[in-house]
Amino acid sequence: MTVLGLGQQAADDDLKALLARELERVRSRSLGLTTDVLEVDELLAQHSRLMSPLVWDLAHVGNYEELWLVRAAAGIEAMRPELDDIYDAFEHPRAERPTLPLLQPSEAQSYISTVRSKVLDSLDRMSLDPANPLLDKGFVYSMVVQHEHMHDETMLATHQLRRGAAVLHDVPPAAAPRDAAALPAEVLVPAGTFTMGTSDDGWAYDNERPAHDLHLPAFYIDTAPVANRAYLSFVEAGGYDDPRWWSTAGWAWRTESGKRSPAFWLREGGEWLRRRFGRVEPLPPDQPVQHVCFHEAAAYARWAGRRLPTEPEWEKAASWDPVARHKRRYPWGDDDPTPAHANLGQRHHQPAPVGSFPAGASAYGARQLVGDVWEWTSSGFERYPGFRPFPYPEYSEVFFGGDYRVLRGGSWATDRTAVRTTFRNWDHPIRRQIFAGFRCARDAAPGEGA
Ligand code: AVJ
Ligand code: FE
Repeated sequence: MTVLGLGQQAADDDLKALLARELERVRSRSLGLTTDVLEVDELLAQHSRLMSPLVWDLAHVGNYEELWLVRAAAGIEAMRPELDDIYDAFEHPRAERPTLPLLQPSEAQSYISTVRSKVLDSLDRMSLDPANPLLDKGFVYSMVVQHEHMHDETMLATHQLRRGAAVLHDVPPAAAPRDAAALPAEVLVPAGTFTMGTSDDGWAYDNERPAHDLHLPAFYIDTAPVANRAYLSFVEAGGYDDPRWWSTAGWAWRTESGKRSPAFWLREGGEWLRRRFGRVEPLPPDQPVQHVCFHEAAAYARWAGRRLPTEPEWEKAASWDPVARHKRRYPWGDDDPTPAHANLGQRHHQPAPVGSFPAGASAYGARQLVGDVWEWTSSGFERYPGFRPFPYPEYSEVFFGGDYRVLRGGSWATDRTAVRTTFRNWDHPIRRQIFAGFRCARDAAPGEGA
């Protein structure tokens, strides 16, 4: 049974119980990344100018929940109207957030738990009226659950940037399955029409809508994300010193930043290491490379004689079943993700080796499209034909047409409720603190897969 299926078929009570469970599950994760593990000074500190103090994220998710679930959905008046400005992401860029009159960690915790009590209490009495687009299939509740999960992933990026002893519990991923080494490097996606986006997924954001048909020529896409071993060949071949592989903007980033390897890589006595959540360890050659920006991904691809996939290519490879002519919510089908399908949900604090999760393969045979690392695509963040901002323009619309590049598929840090084959993420092409890697693609030759 899928989350969406439950939304469509089950009684209101089952949907409400599911939403309450998901609200509870995301909150225990948020606390596990903040007040459960760090002292007050570390919660208030800014660990990087790119990130908010962790206690800002914590109170912000509560304020967002109050705006949408207490005030908009239940019609209850504001508890503390003066908080709206402080926790408005558009009023205050991340760099400036430490200077705001932030709630102290204990105040933030009690604010968000008071909000939560009001939400659970009103949800109980609410009728999820299908005629109200905010409430239909519990949309606004799913939006708030996904929002908190996205901030939990952002908080993990803050943990990765933080200096000092490790505080997060670490569970290593399993080794790659035995067939991984024998997998073809790439899979062919034959020419043809598929459905891009969705019109009927109850959890989908406005930017994933509406569904529309697209025709793509045949192309090849990698079976798995690019591994550290392969990326290291680019580094050791002098890829960072050769402007031929870089776009103009990419070379400007490379020279101004002085970077010559992915973020958090270190070289010591001829050995490559990485720093991960306060621990230094040998660079695992078989894991997908992560913490590369779009420019690094694109430069690697050009060096390798390939290119990044476009966003429609990624979505077709991940979601289209060409036999049934059916769009899948996940690469493997419509069933909710399990640990056999994908590395999601912060079970492990790192990607699984390339070639993992045969049960999670797409119809075309590509693996790890969902989970492990966000994947850079070559596409900018643009509206789909027929896009309508819903329920507020600051989620998607204000970002269309910027310098952003779209990322797809979620990472090991993404929750299963906050990713699907239609889900779109975006960031500036120079950002490296997110859990992002990439896979390559290329055009098929004329006649191949036509
Ligand atoms: C969709 C991940 C780009 O973190 O900037 C969080 C999500 N929107 N709060 C972001 C978001 C509002 C957004 N991304
Ligand atoms: Fe937010």
